[in-house]
Amino acid sequence: MTDQTRPDDPVSIRRTFAIISHPDAGKTTLTEKLLLFGGAIQLAGEVKAKRNRVNTRSDWMNIERQRGISVMTSVMTFEYDGRVFNLLDTPGHEDFSEDTYRTLTAVDSAIMVIDAAKGIEDRTRKLFEVCRLRDIPIVTFINKMDRETRDPFDLLDEIEKTLALDTAPVTWPIGRGKDFAGTYNLAQNTIRRLDGEVEATPVSGPEDKLFDELLSQYDVDEWREEVALAREGLRPFDLAAFREGHLSPVFFGSALRNFGVRDLIDSLGAIAPPPRAQEAEGRMVEADERKMTGFIFKIQANMDPNHRDRIAFMRVCSGKLTRGMKAKLVRTGKPITLSAPQFFFAQDRAIADEAYAGDVVGIPNHGTLRIGDTLSEGEQIVFRGVPSFAPELMRRVKIGDAMKQKKLREALQQLAEEGVVQLFIPFDGSGAIVGVVGALQLDVLKERLGAEYNLPIDYEPVRFSICRWVEADDRAELDKFMTANNSAMANDLDGAPVFMAPSPFSLQYDAERWPAIRFTDVKDYQ
Ligand code: G4P
Repeated sequence: MTDQTRPDDPVSIRRTFAIISHPDAGKTTLTEKLLLFGGAIQLAGEVKAKRNRVNTRSDWMNIERQRGISVMTSVMTFEYDGRVFNLLDTPGHEDFSEDTYRTLTAVDSAIMVIDAAKGIEDRTRKLFEVCRLRDIPIVTFINKMDRETRDPFDLLDEIEKTLALDTAPVTWPIGRGKDFAGTYNLAQNTIRRLDGEVEATPVSGPEDKLFDELLSQYDVDEWREEVALAREGLRPFDLAAFREGHLSPVFFGSALRNFGVRDLIDSLGAIAPPPRAQEAEGRMVEADERKMTGFIFKIQANMDPNHRDRIAFMRVCSGKLTRGMKAKLVRTGKPITLSAPQFFFAQDRAIADEAYAGDVVGIPNHGTLRIGDTLSEGEQIVFRGVPSFAPELMRRVKIGDAMKQKKLREALQQLAEEGVVQLFIPFDGSGAIVGVVGALQLDVLKERLGAEYNLPIDYEPVRFSICRWVEADDRAELDKFMTANNSAMANDLDGAPVFMAPSPFSLQYDAERWPAIRFTDVKDYQ
């Protein structure tokens, strides 16, 4: 494994990553243990404790507390072994998948956590597909080896078949379940023992006497055969294939027992890519360019209920961000002063005096910044790829008090800019329609409109269940289509035309009738 880190180069020492997994596979536990390694928290358990504390303080988070889920996305920065790690957390609940997808546009690599008893689960697969769209390199962690597990060959085979991803086991479990004793590093010929993981111990090979001792409760001959098979039959690690997103190194461990976690963080440091070049309209932006650029992938309101602030999370893509600098908000062309950019840690946030490519900074603002915005040092450049997905549920928002219509429209606009819901303003002048990917987003919207804007609302069903952005090469064709379908047309937040249909069937029917029109279900923010 190679390491291209140059200690004097702030970009090369950065690793910006996320953890993808199905709920319950161990993401929170692993996060805690990774942060412990980085010294970011004192005691494991604080990630959860923190989560609960935030919840009890925050009004709209009631929903989260009641349902026992985390709807927060945040970033945690820590240092370990001369490197800076930025861990971007993703919401566990699938109703907030849009948030997760956007977060994944801001990472350079990911850890995929798999429950050793369950294998690839639904949500892991979906999140993996999002990573694949951007060829994000994936390190696999097969967790809960201290419990009853499936056969390791089976698990690797499942990853290869269901994800079409090559695997290269770096470690191999020594025993499983209650007999899990540690891991054997296949290439380095070293072991790490469950009860004393700190340093890896060299062994002479799978025949080493030590294994007889470690596997006294287990069939040691069977294990040696397994290792021989793994060595012969399975792929060796290949850095280029990993970096291209085709091959995943696999580690076995137990997050709960803090085992295998160090392997993971060491391998992220050694093989995961430093900040990658980012695609903007017209050109690629290299991480080591001198001028600062970045894009907003997430907006979060009320992170600290004492300051009713709104934080825009920006991934720095190039150059150096310094506190107090003036940047250009490309969408409006206006300057914005970055007077209090912030870094986030597990327990705290702190003013960021400087930040480099790969870093994620929070920029407090009062609605100036939107998801998908690009900031630059003057260049008229727009980053691509922060997506918006066609919603799967649509509702009309109703408010009893007609005097509050204007206020409602403004509030909806603000919350749509934060990415809470998507907003559609029908051409025919009827009330605003909101669209979401998951039903829980509707609950959050209602709760926040009530709590923060004093706007008690209800939802009304609409006759549409599906919508698509529409485009055409010929503007006249698009106009003709929009006029013919006026009562099914709306503008989204950016004024882009959206066609709404009662069912996928009717959408298909219309698509066939209007061949010059392109119907798209994913849109880049602009
Ligand atoms: P998530 O964020 O992916 O949803 O998973 P989380 O870390 O919350 O872990 C889910 C459950 O699995 C937790 O148990 C956790 O303690 C357990 N767990 C995580 N890693 C391991 C492991 O390596 N081995 C074993 N045996 N268990 C593991 P819980 O009882 O649901 O929660 P808690 O009350 O213990 O926190």
